[in-house]
Amino acid sequence: MNVHSNVTILDHPVVARDLSILRDETTKIVEFRSAMSRIATILAYESLKELPLRKTTIHTPIEATSGYHINTEIVVVPILRAGLTLVDAIMNFIPDAKIGHLGMYRDETTHEPVDYYSNLPDEVSDGLVLVVDPMLATGGSADDAIGYLKKHGAKNIRFTSLISAPEGLDRITEKYPDVSIITAAVDEKLNDDAFIVPGLGDAGDRYFGTT
Ligand code: PRP
Repeated sequence: MNVHSNVTILDHPVVARDLSILRDETTKIVEFRSAMSRIATILAYESLKELPLRKTTIHTPIEATSGYHINTEIVVVPILRAGLTLVDAIMNFIPDAKIGHLGMYRDETTHEPVDYYSNLPDEVSDGLVLVVDPMLATGGSADDAIGYLKKHGAKNIRFTSLISAPEGLDRITEKYPDVSIITAAVDEKLNDDAFIVPGLGDAGDRYFGTT
């Protein structure tokens, strides 16, 4: 796989350490959640680069100077459930971000996404839409989510994942060359069950404590 110019892969020692915690099958839920939260902050920081700014004048106690407002609405769209793990980190930076939800799970046999819920704010059509899901495996869920958002008018979409498989990255970059992808790691491949190898197992189950 060629890493596409639209794909940003985090390169940071803290991310490498936290990914190892997340991958380790012996990691318990409390440590898993805190490692996820730290990486989510770095993913959010990277995902919020290159936003349009509106210049303003502010007054420090010393003199007038230039200040900036972020000049776009930001809509975070977690793919339920596991995408919820990445929402708070973005809201910490953008406290007025709107949140849309897309519910889908992957059928265990076909590996195709099955939609069960959607609720999007009006701002998807004009704002920057950040679709978040920790796992980009076959890319079926991301493909479905991005296609649905485009049908609802979204023009500026970024996709943020924790771990991506080459198969999913290829699928999304080929089908949606206008969507940039921010990820913490690109793993080796998918196995026969369409799980990312080496991956970390099922991110949603490990974070929420389900099996
Ligand atoms: C996982 C993951 C992605 C999807 C990735 O969700 O969180 O949404 O699978 O696979 P894909 O790229 O092949 O579509 P899962 O079905 O486990 O649901 P959950 O988030 O409710 O755990």
